[in-house]
Amino acid sequence: MSDWAIPQDWNSYTAGEHAVWDTLFARQSRLLKGRTTQAFLRGMDVLRLSRPGIPNFAELSERLMALTGWCVVAVPGLVPDAVFFEHLANRRFVAGRFIRTADQLDYLQEPDVFHDLFGHVPLLTDPAFADYMQTYGAGGLRAQSFGALKKLARLYWYTVEFGLIREHGMLRAYGAGIVSSHGETLFALDDPSPNRIVFDLERVMRTDYRIDDYQQSYFVIDSFEDLRHRTADADFGPLYRRLADLEDITPGAVLPQDRLLNRGTQAHTRHARLT
Ligand SMILES: [Fe+2]
Repeated sequence: MSDWAIPQDWNSYTAGEHAVWDTLFARQSRLLKGRTTQAFLRGMDVLRLSRPGIPNFAELSERLMALTGWCVVAVPGLVPDAVFFEHLANRRFVAGRFIRTADQLDYLQEPDVFHDLFGHVPLLTDPAFADYMQTYGAGGLRAQSFGALKKLARLYWYTVEFGLIREHGMLRAYGAGIVSSHGETLFALDDPSPNRIVFDLERVMRTDYRIDDYQQSYFVIDSFEDLRHRTADADFGPLYRRLADLEDITPGAVLPQDRLLNRGTQAHTRHARLT
């Protein structure tokens, strides 16, 4: 099976493309102070390479490899699930090489190199999170034989992409989809619209998500160590069988058994439907 890896071809980036990276990096670095975890803030140092602009994957990988044994490989865009899982299970993070244009800084569609590197790579320097990602990849390869990919994908979505964490009693963002987005960083932490619910593995794997707007519910973990335990130590076979008989939960729903940090007004979603 091909691994879909392509050369990053760093020398082909234009000055304008590097400038987009630098603008986004400066903007998000400023915004995230006090809004993301200490682990993410520390991990951002790995992205500060010898030259400004879009990081060179080879240089970045060398630094990441020395810290937690991960590396970054370029791919042309979205890759098949099995390829994605295989890379993660071997501590390789796949990243797009293109970058959004200067007039689309708040771009939300396919993940670009800013989302993939700025959003995902800092936490790969955290040992517990780095292990969680590898375990997720191995779990993905197994989930295929259970026909449970949709359920497992929700775990990735609500943690790796849109996870929140409580650190010293304060709510912080760690999901790549949040921390790489100016608007969603503010929305996920401060807006009264979304629900914020204490993470529960089974609950998350039953919950649908939105790909076209900010999330209607965010799930909150206590630590990466805790997340790693809850997933690495869980027996997913029986869990998938149990989940197969349970109904999916809509993105904005609140269940009686949820441990709610706050119940969202869902005003954002209602407004978006009207316009
Ligand atoms: Fe992502």
